[in-house]
Amino acid sequence: MRPVSRGVRIDARRLRDRLDELGEVSPIPGGGSCRLALTDEDRRGRDLVRSWMSDLGLTVRVDGIGNIIATWECAPGSPVMTGSHIDTVRTGGRYDGNYGVLAGLEVIETLMTAGLTPSRPLSVVVFTNEEGARFQPDMLGSLVYVGGLAVEEALDTKAIDGARLGDELTRIGYDGPDPVPGPPPHAFVELHIEQGPLLEAEGITIGAVNGVQGISWQELTIVGQSNHAGTTPMSLRHDPTYVAAAITVFLRDLATEMGGNQVCTVGKIDLSPNLVNVVAAKAVMTIDVRNTDEDLLRTAEKRIADFLTDVARREGVHIETRRLARFEPVVFDPRVVDLVDTIAREHGHTVKRMPSGAGHDAQMLARVSPSAMIFVPSHKGISHNAAEHTDDADLVAGADVLLDTMWALCDFDPGTIPSYPSDAEMEPA
Ligand code: HGY
Ligand code: MN
Ligand code: MN
Repeated sequence: MRPVSRGVRIDARRLRDRLDELGEVSPIPGGGSCRLALTDEDRRGRDLVRSWMSDLGLTVRVDGIGNIIATWECAPGSPVMTGSHIDTVRTGGRYDGNYGVLAGLEVIETLMTAGLTPSRPLSVVVFTNEEGARFQPDMLGSLVYVGGLAVEEALDTKAIDGARLGDELTRIGYDGPDPVPGPPPHAFVELHIEQGPLLEAEGITIGAVNGVQGISWQELTIVGQSNHAGTTPMSLRHDPTYVAAAITVFLRDLATEMGGNQVCTVGKIDLSPNLVNVVAAKAVMTIDVRNTDEDLLRTAEKRIADFLTDVARREGVHIETRRLARFEPVVFDPRVVDLVDTIAREHGHTVKRMPSGAGHDAQMLARVSPSAMIFVPSHKGISHNAAEHTDDADLVAGADVLLDTMWALCDFDPGTIPSYPSDAEMEPA
């Protein structure tokens, strides 16, 4: 393997400035941004990042699901790819996704400025709708890119506000000509903030991410009997609000009982007619259930399904479920994880091998290419919140590790390095 680009380091000021400039596209109080996928705000963010890509002389392509693929065509062969997302949740922080895209751009500009030419092309990608907040499932753009979801089906996806994904893509001008699925890269590595508390709590700078936990999202529509809040005896009620609350409490108790990496979240409940003196007619809620272990995740799903059947019977309501997302846990290529670990230690950083609690585009690219992720600490583990913060020194450390990892992956030849047993386990966090 060629010596990695020792001594070449990213330009911290340029990365910081770009993070701040992108963060100011549709800002929200507290330093965050709101750029839900395929809104005008998302378009403005895309236009800005695409202008930086073009200014670097990269070949910028847009595919049929709106992924923006910028490539430095400096050598023959399939590219080493990095990337992430710039769409946000409604209360997005400054770093979630944005950091991985802009650090990828920074790596390329640093190598160009240093006159260092990699032995393969380098690509940096903005994947469409990673968050899954407006359109489900999450990681939709990278899922289509790797052939995990037909683009026609993806384009017909309806947003929580009723819009059709394909119409929104056309409206913002990002219904690109490039075919999907896209060509698998030689290797893929994504840099991201941890969005959890572990690295900061343990005083560790770099996470060598060995996998992503499984994700199960469902929408529940609970239909009861709307009635007068004052005249309807408690014994005669079929109250969707009460059932939604019972489900929420059940999920919390289930996660507590199962322990380990089990997490359950109710993030969205819409009541109708949503009035002070009316027993609701309907409650529509989402449940987000995750675990690093597929068998345990299935056990949780079964326990939830049984509870739904029982509570519907007891309360005389009807519960309809709709699958929003379901991804099994992913184990990254240990050889790439090793590379991240080795390079980070050579940079003098402390390293922790860990799974990701959040979903990421890398978990989709892992289906087609040797992939892994690099984490840097999140202050107090806060994310999906305008207060999201990572110290500049950690941002720079992560980007420098990304640079040397991408450089080394150019010479990574999967054929010559013994592949690990397929049952490589995700070490618990
Ligand atoms: O939900 C997630 O884990 C990611 O932020 N889309
Ligand atoms: Mn993210
Ligand atoms: Mn996110």
